[in-house]
Amino acid sequence: MSRTGLWDSHAHLDDEAFNPDREELIAQLQQDLEGVINPGCDAASSAFAVKLAEIYDFIYAAVGWHPENLKDIPANYLEQLAVWAQNPKVVAIGEIGLDYYWKENEPREAQKRILLEQIDLAKQFDLPIIIHDRDAHGDMLELFQKEVRGVQAVFHCFSGSLEMAKELAKRGYYFGFGGTSTFKNSQKVREVMKYVPRELMLFETDSPYLTPIPYRGKRNNPGYTELTALHAAELLGVDFAELAAQTTANVKRLFKRIP
Ligand code: NI
Repeated sequence: MSRTGLWDSHAHLDDEAFNPDREELIAQLQQDLEGVINPGCDAASSAFAVKLAEIYDFIYAAVGWHPENLKDIPANYLEQLAVWAQNPKVVAIGEIGLDYYWKENEPREAQKRILLEQIDLAKQFDLPIIIHDRDAHGDMLELFQKEVRGVQAVFHCFSGSLEMAKELAKRGYYFGFGGTSTFKNSQKVREVMKYVPRELMLFETDSPYLTPIPYRGKRNNPGYTELTALHAAELLGVDFAELAAQTTANVKRLFKRIP
């Protein structure tokens, strides 16, 4: 077993922030973590994620188009994703979703259409999805209440309300918790964390972003999953090793291609 027994269920190791020291960092992570899932955000980053997953046993990839990157999405993007989805080291479609924060993003209807197309693709390959939801909680919840069926999902870096969490947990969806859960002003995330059933909880970093306390502002890396997990164990009053084992079991149940 690795030193911590933890998975980072969401890290962008393909990001250029890791160009200077990616290999050394990954060598260290291999000691510290059970595994890392690297989602893609467009064609280039999905290809990079798949490449990393092919090189390193403990790294797995997801492929997809992030809602911030839809401006120049190629007409045949689903065919391209379908080719990657056949790779056994691709364990999910993601990250996909809705992002209403950036005004320059594509219109909401286009974002929803592309999200639903990618969800259909995930269903064809019996893969779970990794959801990005930024300032789109109302529309996202409505989609999952009314339209989305027959697919497993994790709401990565969950930032919705407790009420939304209750609706999603009722349907068996998973919640990713990362550095934001350690921030002083993130009382809402901690309330959700206390509520969420332990068997629906995942840890993540979203590296290189959202670095947990006490390194907030510096580059995040998957090794800092441990900081979030330590913080969560204290908050929930549970044993760290037990929480690590539970969240690792959750990763393998959700991302079922992981052996
Ligand atoms: Ni991300």
